[in-house]
Amino acid sequence: DGKGAIGESLLKWYDTDARVMPWRVSPQDRASGVRPDPYRIWLSEVMLQQTTVAAVRDYFRRFTARWPDVEALAAAEDGAVMAEWAGLGYYARARNLLKCARVVAQEMDGQFPQTAAELQKLPGIGPYTAGAIAAIAYDEPVAVVDGNVERVVSRLFAVQTPLPAAKPELTDLTAQITPQSRPGDFAQAMMDLGATICTPRNPACAICPLIADCDAQSQGIAADLPRKLAKKPK
Ligand code: ADE
Repeated sequence: DGKGAIGESLLKWYDTDARVMPWRVSPQDRASGVRPDPYRIWLSEVMLQQTTVAAVRDYFRRFTARWPDVEALAAAEDGAVMAEWAGLGYYARARNLLKCARVVAQEMDGQFPQTAAELQKLPGIGPYTAGAIAAIAYDEPVAVVDGNVERVVSRLFAVQTPLPAAKPELTDLTAQITPQSRPGDFAQAMMDLGATICTPRNPACAICPLIADCDAQSQGIAADLPRKLAKKPK
């Protein structure tokens, strides 16, 4: 279907252009055998729910400096965790974070479950976060679909169905292009592409590593996608 090269092209781009983030293992370190730390991946993904990468960075550094592993976090005072979280917002996330850390430390011997299905049973971990952790920390080839990925995929396949109705279709298409090898890097590359090149307005198609695979670009409609159902006045 002409989409077979997407994974390879995108990973090649990620190897040189990945954004540097304190929870990421660089593609170079990964290649020499460094594994991502599931605790750090979980913590970053919970912080990144509803919050931008720029806002999360310093919080992530302070949390991991103070509580370097899940046992340390599980042993923290509730008030200390809430105080370090102050400013990030959506405080239910911090309460669930601590609940989750205590379950993993006390009932799972400090080991996070290794599949999206099992991760989803933990407090504060929904389908998106479970998929992201499973793909990034454990190489499970699951579709990881956030807002950035919805936009990239709707353009690659020129999906005309408006959001939110298009969500199942976009998840299915994401699954079809997710490679068996390096699914976590693929997911993060899709997020980076959406954040830096395949942007909502004025996408930088001229420098996109997937230009040859993009149906919206060849139809000249990239900036018009994804379509969105007009919001009803409240
Ligand atoms: N947003 C959520 N998770 C992310 C990640 N791992 N990299 C970049 N942006 C993200």
